[in-house]
Amino acid sequence: MTGRIIGLGSYIPKKIVTNDDFAAFLDTSDEWITERTGIKERHIADHITEKPSTMAVEAAKKAIEDAGIDPKDIDLIVTACTTPDLVIPSMSCVVHEAIGASENCGCFDVNSACPGFVAAWNTVQSFIETGNAKLALCIGTECNSNFANYNDRGTCILFGDGAGAALLKADESAKPNQFIMRSSGARGGCLRCEAARQPDRWEEEDFKTATSFYMQGREVFKFAVSEVPQIIKDLSEKFSFDLNDIDMFILHQANARIIEATAKKLGIPRDRFPMNIMNYGNASSASIPMLLTSLKAEGRLKPGMKIVMASFGAGLTWDANYIIF
Ligand code: UT7
Repeated sequence: MTGRIIGLGSYIPKKIVTNDDFAAFLDTSDEWITERTGIKERHIADHITEKPSTMAVEAAKKAIEDAGIDPKDIDLIVTACTTPDLVIPSMSCVVHEAIGASENCGCFDVNSACPGFVAAWNTVQSFIETGNAKLALCIGTECNSNFANYNDRGTCILFGDGAGAALLKADESAKPNQFIMRSSGARGGCLRCEAARQPDRWEEEDFKTATSFYMQGREVFKFAVSEVPQIIKDLSEKFSFDLNDIDMFILHQANARIIEATAKKLGIPRDRFPMNIMNYGNASSASIPMLLTSLKAEGRLKPGMKIVMASFGAGLTWDANYIIF
């Protein structure tokens, strides 16, 4: 038994922030941001009605509607979230109540920054493959704007908010979940954000800055363009498939140049690497399920399609999966 996607849904905050909006208060320009990142605009939550928990609920409801199932049959909810509005309960438990799931449904969150959705996916699949879940929600939800430093033009222009959800159903005929996950704690310093509640440090100069995203962009860029193509190649060797047979490469949407460099290094046509970064920016763990949802809505995802998902980010962590849609 392996989980097969039977429903997808997303929630995108209403407010759009364009590159020109940033240029109004930062030393930046639409030209620089477009050329270096591919981003034209991103959606930012209102932080009142739109929070990681409420966006996760809306994405989950849409995935349930898309699948046409009874939420009482869901037996596992795993949510990837690094920017939660609640420390406890988990985002998954908030979703549990809102969708009316039963008490036979397990709930927990994973924190693995941008690769969180893929980590949640692998967790869910491992439950399904060991017979411990049959119908599971796998969610990515983020309010990156909670932690962006709007004085730092090198990071704040990248991030957007949003949520995406996939409903996975155990299927005897589905191909086993095939993945590789890697980490380098030693390189973690180039992408950090400290916890806000450290009373012994409140008086420290720059403590507010330390509790916002800090990123050495060029280091993260070099890491991504080297490790992402490599892990995809290693995945194809480990599970003996030809990368030329893959219909779509669904990569974490962090920078269009990283995606283009990956396509080039692998020698795969760029049109097999769909992107939505131009409209949503980097939505961290929500980026892959948001992209899957829009591809399905556009009729570009067809049953039986061979897909490689790959993500990377803070940790540092990176991973890749081979799935059949
Ligand atoms: O999802 C988690 C993973 N995160 C990522 O994948 C991010 C990976 N990194 C990147 O996407 C890129 O490194 C950035 C988009 C963040 C930066 O692009 P870059 O081409 O690597 O620029 P840089 O950091 O090397 O900076 C080049 C110049 C600098 O000016 P000087 O020192 O050459 O005078 C920066 O100060 O560009 C300047 N700069 C900007 N200028 C205008 C940095 N940010 C901006 C900006 N507008 N927003």
